[in-house]
Amino acid sequence: MSVSLRVESTLEALLARAQGDLTPPRLAESVRYAVFPGGARVRPSLCLAVAEACGDDQPAVANAAAAAVELLHCASLVHDDLPCFDDADSRRGKPSVHRVFSEPLAVLAGDAMIVLAFEVLAQGCAAAPDRLAPLIRTLAAGVGMPTGIVAGQAWESEPTVNVESYHQSKTGALFVAATRMGALAAGASPVPWSRLGEKLGAAYQAADDLMDAVSEPEEGGKPTGRDVALNRPNLVAELGVQGAYRRLQELVGEAVEAIPDCDGAQGLRDIVRGQALRLTPKQLSRSAA
Ligand code: IPE
Ligand code: IPE
Ligand code: MG
Ligand code: MG
Repeated sequence: MSVSLRVESTLEALLARAQGDLTPPRLAESVRYAVFPGGARVRPSLCLAVAEACGDDQPAVANAAAAAVELLHCASLVHDDLPCFDDADSRRGKPSVHRVFSEPLAVLAGDAMIVLAFEVLAQGCAAAPDRLAPLIRTLAAGVGMPTGIVAGQAWESEPTVNVESYHQSKTGALFVAATRMGALAAGASPVPWSRLGEKLGAAYQAADDLMDAVSEPEEGGKPTGRDVALNRPNLVAELGVQGAYRRLQELVGEAVEAIPDCDGAQGLRDIVRGQALRLTPKQLSRSAA
């Protein structure tokens, strides 16, 4: 089964399981709206690709790890779009969750997805209970304090911010969790996989900053020009458009080099290069060509 089919069918099955007749209908609908249709699903695909490169001896554990990572990512987007954060009206080419369902439901949908992510891990590890604790710890590190998504978002409330640590926490940390959890789910050491997550996460946020600075909203399916409007620390403000573009290319090169020597290395290189191409604003890739 392809990685993307594994991701979609796992997410479908877990939402069907999690949302019974007792769920308040608008909460159920808002969670479904936040998860489907997905975006690039890059984090769970990466997680499964790493699990496969490590032998994938417990596919149910890897599926649960990938789904948990994507649930937390979707939750972070729902909360990030709220008026108290980025006040974004659209996401993935459609109105953001709070615009459709209300702010209280967007807060609750995000909360429900965060809790569900950990529940899914616990259920998925039934056949390999010794893998559960390291997976939970790794996922928590990607989203909580001191250097996960929550910390990254919290830097926006500080008077001075280091852009690199801000990016590493708000975006890089979940990529690191994705690669490390892929290895852990397959019973392998996560250590050789951290650098790939770090570099790809940094590249991803560099591309996102460029997209925000130079693209039209149609290209990414979400508002642009927000970093300047909200006075967010960002790579374009630090390095200029061309400097940020060069940094993106460097980071993609470093991400490719960080892929450990393994059976699935070519597939992983294709994921990294494919994502870099997809995320680079068309205007920049055209003028570079
Ligand atoms: C958006 O992530 C937020 C960032 C970290 C830049 P993605 O671009 O992966 O979002 P989706 O899931 O594809 O919509
Ligand atoms: C990305 O933040 C990371 C999180 C959502 C936690 P941004 O605010 O830069 O991402 P977009 O541009 O809204 O996707
Ligand atoms: Mg934000
Ligand atoms: Mg945002």
